[in-house]
Amino acid sequence: MPFHNIAIAGASGFLGQKILEHLLNIPGVTQVTVLSRSPQPDEAAPNRLVSFISISSYKDTESLASILRGHDLLISAIAGAAAGTTDALLVEAALRAGVQRFMPSEYTVDVLHPHSVKFAGSTILSAKIANATNLELLAEEGTIEYTTLVTGPFLDFWFSGVVKGVVDLEERRVMLYDGGEHQVSGCSSDFIARCVGAVIAMPDEATKNQRIRIAETQFNGKELLSTFEEVTGEQWLGVHKTTDALVDESNQALQEGNMRGFYLGQILKLGFDGEGSCYFEEGLMHGGGSVERLALKDIVAKSIVSN
Ligand SMILES: NC(=O)c1ccc[n+]([C@@H]2O[C@H](COP(=O)([O-])OP(=O)(O)OC[C@H]3O[C@@H](n4cnc5c(N)ncnc54)[C@H](OP(=O)(O)O)[C@@H]3O)[C@@H](O)[C@H]2O)c1
Repeated sequence: MPFHNIAIAGASGFLGQKILEHLLNIPGVTQVTVLSRSPQPDEAAPNRLVSFISISSYKDTESLASILRGHDLLISAIAGAAAGTTDALLVEAALRAGVQRFMPSEYTVDVLHPHSVKFAGSTILSAKIANATNLELLAEEGTIEYTTLVTGPFLDFWFSGVVKGVVDLEERRVMLYDGGEHQVSGCSSDFIARCVGAVIAMPDEATKNQRIRIAETQFNGKELLSTFEEVTGEQWLGVHKTTDALVDESNQALQEGNMRGFYLGQILKLGFDGEGSCYFEEGLMHGGGSVERLALKDIVAKSIVSN
């Protein structure tokens, strides 16, 4: 296993917490440095492998580089709205520090799929595309390696009620975009964290400079509707909408200065329009074989219990 000394940014977040938890259970990991904007906690870290570094500004890439020196791998799980700029700064610092590999905070539809590139206009997506393109260039030059997990939607996030663009748990509704027949790939955040762990445990050449597509499960809107009905034993409403209507709503949100609405509309369009940005065969993780996965029915059942 090539990665022993690992740094992670964003480990206090929704996905980052789970990645950190898995990192600590990988045999061979000897040091995990948590980078956070929070002040240094008073109490000692709960695990002897972990050291916590408070970052006053990610813009100070020189200081960041001195912290990163000696690390083999830098993982970013920074929040979507900040990941674009912060990941670019993390890469700059990692280059200075000679970090072997970077895993970006991309974790979404395949942003380099031609349909995504043609379509995406929101700041978050454009920044993720720019960072992914830059990483490919740097890897070609041989200055840093990358491994990117292409995950599609986080199903525990989209089935949680935080956003209602796929499922509305309270109203017992499931969206059926463009008739609900396009296939979609998706993952729970636990599965993604386990895949990050698998990348670390795999031979480094197997994952070097790879955009690895992962799919814990695949489904279409109609299957999702029937799964919610099966799990709850209730009748749910299937709401028909076209992905073109999503684009109109997304553009309307932009005009109103609602950048989150603009981004979510674009992501839903790319997720559900069946043009390939969000339905894929799995990459290496499937070959790795060892990553435990849940069926759609189990992910849905968990979402019903926990929300
Ligand atoms: N595909 C999907 O459906 C889906 C769903 C959710 C998320 N995602 C993606 O997954 C990744 C992680 O998202 P998340 O929801 O886990 O993130 P999150 O919980 O919102 O935030 C993660 C961490 O980012 C750090 N952070 C927040 N704002 C920052 C800023 N302005 N500058 C620097 N650091 C900042 C914070 O860590 P500290 O306070 O410790 O610094 C925070 O705990 C993102 O790329 C996001 O787009 C994808």
